Parts: sequence; structure tokens; C-alpha cells
Amino acid sequence: MGAGGTEIAIAGAGYVGLTSAVCFCEMGHRVRLVDVDPQRVAMIRQGQCPIYEPGLPELLNKHRNDRLQVTDRLAEAVKGASALFVCVGTPASASGAPDLSALRRLLRELKALPDLNQTVLVLKSTVPPGTNRMAYDSLRGTMPVVSNPEFLREGTAVHDFFHPDRVVVGSPDEGAALLVAGLYKGVDAPLLVTGWEEAELIKYATNGFLALKISYANEIAALCDALGADALDVLKGLGLDHRVGSQFLRPGPGYGGSCLPKDTRALIWKGRRAGVRLDLLPAAQRANLRQRERLLEALSKLLGGLAGKQVAVWGLAFKAGTDDLRTAASLEMIPWMLKQGASVRTYDPAAQEAFARHFPPEKWPGLTLSPDQWSALEGADGLLILTEWETFRTATPLAIRRKMAGRVVLDARNILDPEAARAAGLQYRGVGRGRRAPLR
Ligand code: UDX
Ligand code: UDX
Repeated sequence: MGAGGTEIAIAGAGYVGLTSAVCFCEMGHRVRLVDVDPQRVAMIRQGQCPIYEPGLPELLNKHRNDRLQVTDRLAEAVKGASALFVCVGTPASASGAPDLSALRRLLRELKALPDLNQTVLVLKSTVPPGTNRMAYDSLRGTMPVVSNPEFLREGTAVHDFFHPDRVVVGSPDEGAALLVAGLYKGVDAPLLVTGWEEAELIKYATNGFLALKISYANEIAALCDALGADALDVLKGLGLDHRVGSQFLRPGPGYGGSCLPKDTRALIWKGRRAGVRLDLLPAAQRANLRQRERLLEALSKLLGGLAGKQVAVWGLAFKAGTDDLRTAASLEMIPWMLKQGASVRTYDPAAQEAFARHFPPEKWPGLTLSPDQWSALEGADGLLILTEWETFRTATPLAIRRKMAGRVVLDARNILDPEAARAAGLQYRGVGRGRRAPLR
């Protein structure tokens, strides 16, 4: 084991836990990573990454069997650790309330362990306000508890770990908060030390605002399509206002992923529980669903109905750079097209296998998972682009035209050039491209 640094335990080897583990090793700490899934533990021990995250395999192989140890036993992971980071899944339940069963199971296991008062419990998983306080009380004050929310984006999680906009630590126990903050020494970012609920709410308030911003961009784009204006210029002009900022104003098929949808639902649920009526976040959710309906209506109109038509879909993941399908537009839009009688051929560089688990082709006769983007396009009446993978961005409109039987291209990520598409004889539509390619 490499010398120096702090002994850290991490529970939950998912996008957040595994990324945090190898990044803490890279910063000179020693990490014991525990997960309940023995297959996942075995995979990681052999240096295989259970998730698609650029930069993760390299760091995993650099630190495994040295600074990084992996186990399926919590007692082994926590022994002698200065901090135990909780990164277990906290997915949304039907009511919108985050499912904390994994956290509660962990707390029960912790209670059975001896002398934990030398270890700080750090909740990194996204948990509703009040959860850190609940954890502290359920452990009867035997462990200090610190909230340390993560702001990692999938596809750039390793980069985001080393270059966060801020490090947030929340706890009434200043010493414990500063111990956790100290683990990020070497990360050049503002540090905000605050209370439990404040730290928990910073995470939700951030993701809720990002959801609002994307839905706002999508509605401005819809208006631009109706008025013949180019939304990319309108949103660029909006983003140049330093009070707004240019990030998260790209129109698209509506936000997906594991966090924005889950966290907006959780914040609405928490508001209801607290007796506070929230109007903006439900509107952002409705706008998100409406965006997908808008795209399906436009595609159906452009093709003169979907029954009997062959549609190629480029991109399944909720965004480029990940294999994650959670709340992806493809999961809603493809079954709808199949039910309308279309046959659909899909391609995605990373999420194809995961998609096949959701929609086994044997159960969906009209669905074909193609081995590459061009065979997906063969003889298609229309092409729908849902994820902004580089391999789609660099496809030339002429090559697209030659492969297709029809001419309709609905580019939900605005990655192709409207003029070049039209010059190639394509009936091109973007999202918010106005008179150049109205989504009408
Ligand atoms: C998780 C939370 O879901 C999210 O709300 C938070 O913002 C970040 O951490 P993620 O890392 O994507 O997100 O979780 P996931 O990819 O589902 O991985 C969770 C891991 O925890 C899985 O490997 C699972 O096996 C493990 N786990 C689950 C435990 O180790 N113990 C349990 O009791 C349950
Ligand atoms: C998000 C937050 O960015 C991150 O800080 C938090 O910790 C976890 O949730 P992530 O879910 O990985 O990260 O994806 P993100 O990059 O935020 O994109 C979310 C969704 O919004 C994707 O479907 C993406 O395609 C979409 N999006 C994003 C847009 O449609 N337009 C944009 O301008 C930006």
C-alpha cells in the first residue's frame, strides 16, 4: 500500500463511489471500497470497470491492489478509516421520494460494529434534507456525520472530481467538517462549510435549477421554430448575460440521466411534505415531457405518419460520453414509435447492450439493434438523432442521404449543419433552428 494520505472507506461502487475511490487514491489517500454486489467487487478487483466513464479504467488499474482495496465486507472497509463515504444508490421511488433503503441497511450494519467514533460518516449520495440528521440520530451520536454532496456529471466524472465548481461540506461538527474538507487538499475550488440541511439542499437546488434552465431553453426553441427565429442565436444572446451564463441552454430531446429527473422529483416531494407548494419545478417536468411529444409529432408529420415507416435512431444514451440510459429520451420515444407501427433500427456506441436489456428484440419485433450507424440507416425513411456522439456529428449529410430511402432527418441535438443537409437533398429539421429548419 502506498504511503501517506488518509485511510478512507467508501460504500457503494457506482458512478459516484468508484469514481471517488480512484480519484481519492490519485490524490494520495488509501481507499477501501465496499459494495454489496459480489460480481461488481470481483470485476473491480480484476481491474474491469462496471461503468463507462472516460479516465476511470486508467486510474483503476493504476491504484488497484495498491492504494485501492475492494471488499464486500463493511467491517473490513471501515476498520481504521478516518472517514466512511456513503455512495450507495438513492433512486427515486414512485412517490418521488428518494429510496433510502440502501442507506438504512448500511446504518443498521454500522450500528453493529464496535468503536466507530474515530470514523466520520460522510453522506455523498444525494439524500433529501434531514437525512444527515436522521443518520446521526440513528447512530445515537456515536459517529460524527458530514454531508458532502457530489456534483459529478456522467461522462466527465473524473474531470469533475478534480475540478469541481465548489466543495460543499455540511455538519454542526466543525472538526468533522474540516477533516472531510482536508481530504480534498489539492483540489483548487472554493470550499463552503455549512450545516447539514443547507448542504443537502445545495445539491437539490442546483439540479432543480439546471432542469429549469434546460426546459426554459427547450421552450424558447419551440417558440423560435414557430416564429422562424434561430434559437441558437437567441440562447447565445441570453447566455452572454453574465447573470444567466451560457451553460445548459442547449435545446434537445429533454433532460435525462439519473440525477436531474430524480432530484427535481425529490425536491417537489419534499416541498409537499413540508407543506410548501412549488410551481416552477413541476412546470419544468411538464416541459420536459412536452419536448419529447413535440419531437414525435414533428417526426410523424414529416413522414406522413409512422405506420409502416422505417426509422433509424442514432443515439440511445441520455447524453454522449456515457452508457447510461436512465430517463433517456430513447426509452420513451422508441416504444411509442413502435406502437405507432414504425420499424426502428437503433445504434449507440456505448448504450446498445443496456438498451437491449430494456427492449429485448425478440419481444419487440419492429426493433433492430444495428451493429453500426450506417447499417441502422440502410433504407430508412427517416433518421432521428437523439444523442450527440461525435461519430454522428462527423457524418456527412451526403453520406446520410445516399444510405437512406427517404430524406427526413430530425436532429434533436442540432449537431448537423442545416445548410449542408439541405444541399444534400435532405429534409432536415433541428430543434429551434427556425426558418432554417423549422420543427413544424
Ligand atoms: C448514487 C445515488 O444514486 C445518487 O443519488 C447520488 O447522487 C450519487 O450516488 P450512483 O453512483 O449512480 O448514484 O449509484 P449506482 O450507480 O446505482 O451505484 C450504487 C452502488 O451502490 C451499486 O454498485 C450498488 O451495488 C451499491 N450498493 C447498493 C451498496 O453497496 N450497498 C447497498 O446497500 C445498495
Ligand atoms: C447532472 C449534473 O450536471 C451534475 O452536476 C449532478 O451531479 C448529476 O446530474 P448528469 O446527469 O451526468 O449530471 O448529466 P448532465 O450533463 O447534467 O445532463 C443532464 C441532461 O440534460 C442530459 O440528458 C443532457 O443531454 C441534458 N442537457 C444538458 C440538455 O439537454 N441541454 C443542455 O444544455 C445540457
